[in-house]
Amino acid sequence: MASPVTIPMLYKMKERGEKIVALTAYDYPLARLVDTSGAHMILVGDSLGMVVQGHSSTLPVTMDEMIYHTKIVTRACQQALVVGDMPFMSYPTPEAAVTHAGRFIKEAGAAAVKLEGGASVSGVIRAISLAGISVQAHIGLTPQSVHQMGGFRVQRDEDRLLADALEVEAAGAFSVVLEGIPSDIAETITQKLRIPTIGIGAGPACDGQILVIHDLLGLTDRHVPRFVKQYAKLLDLAEAGVREYAAEVRSGRFPGKEHCY
Ligand code: KIV
Repeated sequence: MASPVTIPMLYKMKERGEKIVALTAYDYPLARLVDTSGAHMILVGDSLGMVVQGHSSTLPVTMDEMIYHTKIVTRACQQALVVGDMPFMSYPTPEAAVTHAGRFIKEAGAAAVKLEGGASVSGVIRAISLAGISVQAHIGLTPQSVHQMGGFRVQRDEDRLLADALEVEAAGAFSVVLEGIPSDIAETITQKLRIPTIGIGAGPACDGQILVIHDLLGLTDRHVPRFVKQYAKLLDLAEAGVREYAAEVRSGRFPGKEHCY
């Protein structure tokens, strides 16, 4: 069995030009599947608010819900680095941020936390990192700012994106997620940073890629953004299975003799 992924390994991967494979997971079966399939990083994303809880944004997700899901995922993982996503309003001040980040590590067993924002959260990133907790930043399209952005919109202000990326690195972030930004800007940022960039809707030049597992597997009926590639259509398969079961229960074909004691 390979040794568990560490943050120094991710730096080495960037140096060597090896791509980092990241995915989200929120529950035991999918976290196990992602872990055993060789992903380097698993993010317990607050996207669970949309793909698991059925909300139209990530804003309602609470700290306790994130801790609950992160505990489940760390229980399932032996190889991947598990990152817990700090939900909306869990890092309004450096003090609150350190307390909440600490819960992900102490209670839930995560190796690191992620939070959204660039220069505006550099003080928070610095405080968490000085407290001994590894932080991943997230810039560009930041879903927790959906109302400020006027929707889930691609972010194109190159000067601001680059300044944000440099600020979060200087504040001590070990990595940065680049979401919903043009590929050429993501490439420039990736070249200028020492820390690995993980892209989602940010093109192929990023040091790694992340997708929401439900989007990748076709486990959702929500609108799938252009940057997603669906590698399976599990919802269709599951629906066919449930329909067949329902038909067999109605007709009396299930349970058969072989299912009875
Ligand atoms: O919440 C999440 O899953 C995320 C990823 C999509 C980067 O932030």
